[in-house]
Amino acid sequence: MCLLVLLMLASCAASPQDLSDLKRDHILFSMATQTNSNAFLVYWDATNNEMEPHIKDQKTEYGGCDYKPGMWHSICSTWDSVTGLVQLWCDGRPSSRRFITSGPISGSTITILGQEQDSHGGGFDSKQCFVGMMSDVHMWDYTLSACEIQKYVDELNFTPGNVLNWSALDFEITGRVLTEDKQMTCH
Ligand SMILES: *[C@@H]1O[C@H](CO)[C@@H](O)[C@H](O)[C@H]1NC(C)=O
Repeated sequence: MCLLVLLMLASCAASPQDLSDLKRDHILFSMATQTNSNAFLVYWDATNNEMEPHIKDQKTEYGGCDYKPGMWHSICSTWDSVTGLVQLWCDGRPSSRRFITSGPISGSTITILGQEQDSHGGGFDSKQCFVGMMSDVHMWDYTLSACEIQKYVDELNFTPGNVLNWSALDFEITGRVLTEDKQMTCH
């Protein structure tokens, strides 16, 4: 749990792998505040094959993300709190930008990976949980350039998140979660 008061020009990123045959809706990333349980959320709608960025309880749906099970994907969502524009990057391919909502995300935030918060730090639904592997989750308080996102996707030397930094993550495990080192190469 972290206490942050942010002027959020936010963006976040996750590389989940779905090893199970997870065909239902599920959450990748959930950040809640006291006023907005979906302050910053990335959600997969399996019925319509749409990846949904949610900002401050507003959402938009993007089709065209080839989010197949059994392989790694790179999912990034950017949002500019001044213009209110959101964009989704799925395996390095940018969506169109859409207006969603503007103004900062403020107050104390709780970020949960793989479970959706319907209230601040709670309100979970097991039917929406993520099953699979997740790595390299970062969050920044500014909108990344296309070039920075490409570096992230290619696992090159990108600037780690200054809100959430996977290399220095302060986290708590709840339930049956295994943490392990990522296998980068085979010998
Ligand atoms: C992220 O964490 C790594 C490892 O602790 C550290 O070297 C780096 O400076 C951190 N980056 C940011 C932006 O906080």
